[in-house]
Amino acid sequence: MDKGTKIYEGKAKIMYATDQADLVIQYFKDDATAFNAAKKGTITRKGVMNNKISSKIFEFLAFHGIPTHFEKYLSEREMLVKKVAIVPVEVVVRNRAAGSLCRLMGVKEGTTFASPILEFCYKRDDLGDPLINESHILAFQLATAAEIATIKEYTLKINDLLSKFFKNLALELIDFKLEFGRYKGAIILADEISPDTCRLWEIGTGKKLDKDRFRHNLGDIEEAYQEVLNRVSK
Ligand code: TMP
Repeated sequence: MDKGTKIYEGKAKIMYATDQADLVIQYFKDDATAFNAAKKGTITRKGVMNNKISSKIFEFLAFHGIPTHFEKYLSEREMLVKKVAIVPVEVVVRNRAAGSLCRLMGVKEGTTFASPILEFCYKRDDLGDPLINESHILAFQLATAAEIATIKEYTLKINDLLSKFFKNLALELIDFKLEFGRYKGAIILADEISPDTCRLWEIGTGKKLDKDRFRHNLGDIEEAYQEVLNRVSK
């Protein structure tokens, strides 16, 4: 697969064209940002670990009937993916309170809920990815009603699948963020699923094995990502 020109560079990944019009290469960087890029740094070999973790998770989800952009693992930092038009809405699922939800609702980290929480954010770095609802999505034509229904259906199924997947690895899926894309008229899962985009707490110890170690300077950042990779690879 020939790597062509750079199409897009984001905070953690770069997309490259290939010799096939409907496929692109997703390259994972070591760059890390937090708090809408107010905090910047690098996490050594994060790109390698997130590429492997995301590849495993996309394979698992595809096996369980979720359409994804994942085609194949190419090299340490590269995966081949379908070329989608990203829906400019970030979808967050929360199973326990952490991060911005604690500020939003005035609850302590770790608080449990009666049911999972589904949130939408407008994917706009210049606005700080603000929290929005379905009415904003429809009014600004970010997605159609049918697309929102599909996204919600996939998201709740992914939460069930991934919560069980991680529980088997003695990890609790606290929350996570998904992005979807349009491909040949259908909605498919895109972007990545990794310790950058999930909160994962070790069952028993409560140790945080995700990007919160970087966000809050908790140390052992690389070790945490490696620990998740070790478990996901089992
Ligand atoms: P939050 O508590 O900061 O809103 O984050 C919720 C989840 O979404 C958490 O697992 C981290 C993930 N996330 C991203 O993947 N990208 C982002 O830009 C943000 C803010 C959160």
